Amino acid sequence: MRPSEQLSKRKPASRVRAGLAVCCVFAGLHGALAAPAGEAILPLPQAARQDPAKVALGRRLFSDARLSGDKRQSCAACHNPAAAQTRTQAQPRPGMLDAPTVFNAAFNFRLYWDGRAATLEQQAGSAIENPAEMAARWADVLRTVEQDADYRRGFSAAFRDGVTRANIEQAIAAYERTLTTPGSRFDRYLRGDYGAISAAEREGYARFKQAGCVACHQGVNVGGNMYQQLGVMEAYPDRDAAARRFKVPSLRNVARTAPYLHDGSAATLEQAIGIMFRYQLGRPGSKEDQALIAQFLATLSAPPGAQP
Ligand code: HEC
Ligand code: HEC
Repeated sequence: MRPSEQLSKRKPASRVRAGLAVCCVFAGLHGALAAPAGEAILPLPQAARQDPAKVALGRRLFSDARLSGDKRQSCAACHNPAAAQTRTQAQPRPGMLDAPTVFNAAFNFRLYWDGRAATLEQQAGSAIENPAEMAARWADVLRTVEQDADYRRGFSAAFRDGVTRANIEQAIAAYERTLTTPGSRFDRYLRGDYGAISAAEREGYARFKQAGCVACHQGVNVGGNMYQQLGVMEAYPDRDAAARRFKVPSLRNVARTAPYLHDGSAATLEQAIGIMFRYQLGRPGSKEDQALIAQFLATLSAPPGAQP
């Protein structure tokens, strides 16, 4: 049984303790981290070094609209680098999923809302054909890339076997692994710079922990390390959503990734926090709790690449 499955059967109070255990297992995975003892949230580690030639190819592929079925939208159309790599407008159609941020996706234990992809390579492979993403065919994508002389040269230089599906997946994943944001004010605070966040933001963090948000949003990504239902303490009105398990989303850069929830149904951060209080914790959060927590969450934003 996965730790997450055990967690989802527990009541919130014990889940907080179990959550701390999970976070420490994850801390171990990510190596030596200067985390204050007992913190449920850990600073992001430095990104693993990537081959610059692969990163350059991946960056170009990521914003190349010719890779999509209709040749009109690149990965960046929905994972917009200027908006923490997410789509910021409301969902075009009911039933569509909100595009998660690609920032720090490298630190999620699985990818997609339902966690069906295990690695960034696997995700990139499926993004090409997923009707909700690129809606293309791999045969067409390979032809497009092979017919481009710059790509051909770049792939021959970066890989032994030139343009292949596996190499395209690797190049995109290498680029995505550079999109980490370890330079947030909150990371500086966790690393010991007490003044990096204000008194109100520290109070917001205290309430985030007291309320039990850390039972699910924890570890280096403040999420992204377990599955949970929506409606743990009170049945969520959307029965279809209530019946599913979601990868708990990372809250890093969350102040910049509206709209919220898997279906984009919460327009503001305060609204999303209110839903969490009611359905995940079983009590209404006060206006003050919600505002302070929103202020704390805003300290989790940073541009990619900026170092602590
Ligand atoms: C039309 C919008 C759209 C396009 C274009 C698109 N995506 Fe996505 N992306 C999504 C949506 C929606 C999801 C969530 C789908 C799901 O969970 O089933 C997603 C999920 C992801 C995730 C998972 C993040 C996580 O933490 O779970 C990654 C990584 C990703 N996309 C990368 C890409 C790449 C690489 C491309 C281009 C090859 C791409 N996307 C093209 C909309 C898009
Ligand atoms: C029982 C686990 C659990 C608890 C406790 C919990 N969350 Fe969540 N949180 C989730 C899940 C699962 C989702 C995704 C739900 C969805 O998308 O429909 C989520 C989504 C969110 C989102 C939206 C993120 C996005 O990118 O769309 C925010 C913001 C959030 N939670 C904040 C909080 C805060 C603040 C608290 C405490 C008041 C909290 N959560 C408590 C599991 C939890």
